[in-house]
Amino acid sequence: MERILSERAQIIKPSITLAISAKAKKMRAEGIDVLNFSAGEPDFDTPDSIKQAAVTAIEEGFTKYTAAGGISEVKAAIIEKYHAEQNLSYNPEQVLVSNGGKHALHNIFQAVLDPGDEVVIPSPYWLSYPDMVKLSGGVPLILNTRLEDNYKISPDALAGAITSKTKLLILNSPSNPTGAVYTARELTALAGVVEAAGILVVSDDVYEKFVYDGKSFVNLLMVAPHITESVIIINSASKTYSMPGWRIGYALGPEAVIRAATRIQGQATSCAGSISQKALAHALKTDANLIESFRQSFEKRRDLMFEGLTAIDGIRTFKPTGAFYLFADVSRLYEKVDGVTDSVGFCDYLLEKWRIASIPGQAFGEDRCIRFSFVADETTIREGLLRLSQILIL
Ligand SMILES: Cc1ncc(COP(=O)(O)O)c(C=O)c1O
Repeated sequence: MERILSERAQIIKPSITLAISAKAKKMRAEGIDVLNFSAGEPDFDTPDSIKQAAVTAIEEGFTKYTAAGGISEVKAAIIEKYHAEQNLSYNPEQVLVSNGGKHALHNIFQAVLDPGDEVVIPSPYWLSYPDMVKLSGGVPLILNTRLEDNYKISPDALAGAITSKTKLLILNSPSNPTGAVYTARELTALAGVVEAAGILVVSDDVYEKFVYDGKSFVNLLMVAPHITESVIIINSASKTYSMPGWRIGYALGPEAVIRAATRIQGQATSCAGSISQKALAHALKTDANLIESFRQSFEKRRDLMFEGLTAIDGIRTFKPTGAFYLFADVSRLYEKVDGVTDSVGFCDYLLEKWRIASIPGQAFGEDRCIRFSFVADETTIREGLLRLSQILIL
């Protein structure tokens, strides 16, 4: 046998964040006080009542395969949420429950992309999008945005990027890694371009509950419900209820797309975990005040981190209005550190010298920046800012 690995396997890049995470973990295991600003998940525990719903599911023997697309109870809870919060109407055939939002995205890409189909991905992007698109045979078409544009695409830029091969646009608001949040007005303008071009949109709304400065979450369908046949919404329990390890998320969209994605999931994993589905059904009914308390705590930490980073010479910081990441342009500091020429080298330096773990912007398509997550506690954030402020005094 000449070639063991498929071409598909070979086009997927190894994660450039993996080496840094592994190093940080090793340092921590050796007792070194590494400050962790690399996490992509909330630091609070899954709320007790959700855990209890899962325990009850186990005790009642709800431990068998379920319908491929999800149990009716969880689909009903998702439909109710979208009706109550976004005034959108879905039927159960338009809902797919998967093993996390990431798996829901994969199923959708598999269902709609053919080899050569282009997918517009605004950059900086969540690092998994380009590789996930490639895995499904699609071609990522990266549309760059700048800090000066608040890391958002304009209708003109979108229209200019669309070709006859464009099948899909991915919108992620609030965004990982920038924390940029589109306004209703901006989305209305983008909806016009989407409608005119006749393309599909994946609206990745996993950070919907974490929006700051008194702003409200809004997605494309809330401002343009007439394009419902073109939009697939992705959501997840991972961030909202701090359930990343439960691997449970979902997609809502046009019936034909969801049916196809459900068939694909049925042959790949049969269904999402039965216990996690029960937990999600319960989570969707969680007291809104509890989620609001998480949001408020993130907003406080965002303020602390933003003020601290803004005060440091050489760092240009974008103020995030959502999610829990701060994307900072640190490129002016590269030349001050021996041997550092890019974000990977700078993150490595921060870890080695200052015991600060962060994620290089290169992973998100922007090598001038690094991503700090502000899910750390206040003491850690203050200590991190203190260490960062000393870099220039060296
Ligand atoms: C933008 C974005 N979308 C989707 C996901 C997927 O999350 P999960 O698969 O845990 O639901 C993540 C996780 O980091 C994310 O940041």
